[in-house]
Amino acid sequence: MSDFIAQLIGLGHQYKGVPEIFKDVTFGIEKGSFHFLTGPSGSGKSSLLKMLYLGLKPTWGSLQLFGEDTLKMQSRLVPLLRQKIGVIFQEFKLLEHLKVVDNVALPLRVRGVDAKQCRKQAQELLEWVGLGESLDVYPPSLSGGQKQRVAIARAVIAQPELLLADEPTGNVDDNMAMKLLYLFEELNKRGTAVIIATHNPRLIERSAHPHLTLTEGTILQLPKCTVLS
Ligand SMILES: Nc1ncnc2c1ncn2[C@@H]1O[C@H](COP(=O)(O)OP(=O)(O)OP(=O)(O)O)[C@@H](O)[C@H]1O
Ligand SMILES: [Mg+2]
Repeated sequence: MSDFIAQLIGLGHQYKGVPEIFKDVTFGIEKGSFHFLTGPSGSGKSSLLKMLYLGLKPTWGSLQLFGEDTLKMQSRLVPLLRQKIGVIFQEFKLLEHLKVVDNVALPLRVRGVDAKQCRKQAQELLEWVGLGESLDVYPPSLSGGQKQRVAIARAVIAQPELLLADEPTGNVDDNMAMKLLYLFEELNKRGTAVIIATHNPRLIERSAHPHLTLTEGTILQLPKCTVLS
């Protein structure tokens, strides 16, 4: 069995009508690893995470995910691979017609966990992120920071093999950011590989994980606390 959850080789992406955003991204995500993903605004962090979630096809290069060659595999495998991934999008992507508690419970529901157990686990997580009073409200009535915490609870509830978090602390205060970092680290200790795209230097400084930096169309792998100016 490979120790890699994902292997990206010479990966590039170009949106129609604009120059390529990255052209030669090569790195591997090992089981149980933890990386920050940094880089200037517009360097392609969100696009790279979307690619790992199979929401965006590479224009060139290859992407192996959970042992599958994603460019050659059958499309019916996409939802099966996605079930192994927890994702926090920069724009949250909550389901507006579902209550907060049901949004969070969704990954358990699709795995066949019974409704009562789903609600119990979703409630516990929501209380932990300070949203115990908002179980039965609908996402449109929440603030940006509250939506972000719902998205985080939904992404971690099923203990995915890979967690992709795009600016997960972009809308919360420092105390909550550190609490969320603790949540990601606990999940990581239980075996989840974690990638956090962030501009938040405090998050990076507070922890001992290496980071990947997108710059000039390629990726650099840096050890802990090496900061590119
Ligand atoms: N759907 C799209 N169509 C065309 N161009 C796009 C699309 N999505 C993103 N881009 C462009 O691709 C580049 C990379 O965007 P992306 O959102 O991946 O960057 P980012 O590193 O996440 O930025 P930020 O730090 O601001 O979140 C930007 O120049 C952006 O304008
Ligand atoms: Mg982004």
